Amino acid sequence: MKKEMIIVLDFGGQYNQLIARRVRECNVYAEVHPYTLPIEKIKEMNPKGIILTGGPNSVYGDDSPRYDKELFELGIPILGICYGSQLMAYTLGGVVKTAPVSEYGRTEVDVDKQDSLLFHNVDAKTVVWMSHTDYIASVPEGFEIIAHTPVCPVAAMANPDKKLYATQYHPEVTHSVQGQQMIYNFVYNVCECAGDWKMDSFVDTTIKEIREKVGNGKVLCALSGGVDSSVAAVLLSKAVGKQLTCVFVDHGLLRKNEGDEVEAVFGSKGQYDLNFVRVNAQERFYEKLAGVEDPEAKRKIIGEEFIRVFEEEAKKIGAVDFLVQGTIYPDVIESGLGKSAVIKSHHNVGGLPDCVDFKEIIEPLRLLFKDEVRRAGLELGIPEYLVYRQPFPGPGLGVRIVGEVTAEKVRIVQDADFIYREELAKAGCDKGLGQYFAALTNMRSVGVMGDFRTYDYAVALRAVNTSDFMTADCSEIPFEVLQKVMTRIINEVKGVNRVLYDLTSKPPGTIEFE
Ligand code: XMP
Repeated sequence: MKKEMIIVLDFGGQYNQLIARRVRECNVYAEVHPYTLPIEKIKEMNPKGIILTGGPNSVYGDDSPRYDKELFELGIPILGICYGSQLMAYTLGGVVKTAPVSEYGRTEVDVDKQDSLLFHNVDAKTVVWMSHTDYIASVPEGFEIIAHTPVCPVAAMANPDKKLYATQYHPEVTHSVQGQQMIYNFVYNVCECAGDWKMDSFVDTTIKEIREKVGNGKVLCALSGGVDSSVAAVLLSKAVGKQLTCVFVDHGLLRKNEGDEVEAVFGSKGQYDLNFVRVNAQERFYEKLAGVEDPEAKRKIIGEEFIRVFEEEAKKIGAVDFLVQGTIYPDVIESGLGKSAVIKSHHNVGGLPDCVDFKEIIEPLRLLFKDEVRRAGLELGIPEYLVYRQPFPGPGLGVRIVGEVTAEKVRIVQDADFIYREELAKAGCDKGLGQYFAALTNMRSVGVMGDFRTYDYAVALRAVNTSDFMTADCSEIPFEVLQKVMTRIINEVKGVNRVLYDLTSKPPGTIEFE
């Protein structure tokens, strides 16, 4: 029996694969095809519905992608999203205009027709993600406006008789709070799908795809020991085994014992069949960082040195065909959706491709959210402590030591952080926390220990609750736990005579110290 299918017609937007994934999450099979897919082919494929994606163009542009009007006369339900909605309006005789200013970001829409099939179980006011300059100024004949915002007269429109629906906003991104419900509504209420498809295991499908793509090629992966790069590396190792080499750069700014932990899992004594190279580059990094206090300068030095070290190792390995990156979906969304000012220059392995000779990048996690990456990690047998590891910045302790980085300060912050994490785990308060760590302030102050005057550093403890890491609140760690941590740090970590707890939320603070 032929399975039901939704065709996602790609007009050049960034979330096209995500739209297909959202449909598949509803247990309906979806495929992305370029907008040049001939109408005859579409008829042959006999989809239950079609989704027209967003795209960067304006419908009035000379070279803008269009589709024959006949598409809308096939009797197949269609959902147009963003550019897709404008194209539907324009093709069917509505008016699309360019707004003087773009509407961009989270927006509350007023749902005008709550009884529309698209809005089943959707609130009268719901937050969606807008990202557009052009807008539909008047709808084509037979259409009605089903949602609007104060600046967007047609946030959604419908011609229920012809089963044509369109949204100016992006229901597929998670910022659209009830977006998945709308996609579900389109797929089930409008297209009347039965939901006969089951998502294959991501792991199995991806391993198969990687094998096909890589063939006999050589693959190189920068492994940081973080969740994303670890899961990407294991997927690749399961797919192509020893054709993969993982390079792990220990820049001396890792948490206590972390380098050895990563090596224990991925090295020759570990459970995976891959080539693992650990580069102990601590001294190099400390030398470069000597005397540097400015946070951005430190970040830059760490990022550049990382690339240099990686490059040298890559040269030893010789020409590679593929470079693996652990990019996950939020990274894609952030670089695509946001044009925000640089608050901190985030250093990830994302900077590598310029310097290493390779044919193609493989990003096996590109469409996954963090929770899905973790699930895949567990399925792949990666130890839980690695899978649930809290986020750790690329520049590592370099941004948790305020001011100049020295080997001595690294030792202090590593030891203090270790105690903090150990005590939080013992007290069972580590579970619900978004991120927690010790940082070393640049402040030294006077204290008294055993009748002697001390003049030592202050360690700051940080713990925040956050789900998106864009905003965060200080966590309420029980006072007795904090006191215990303080006592142990003062007693056990030489060079510290004061422990502070950071109450700052984000904004105005950031999660890290630099
Ligand atoms: P901030 O300090 O900007 O951090 O509030 C937000 C989240 O991002 C992490 N972070 C980084 N992650 N490279 C990374 O991969 C970086 O350069 C970097 N800087 C901050 C931080 O740990 C927090 O989870």
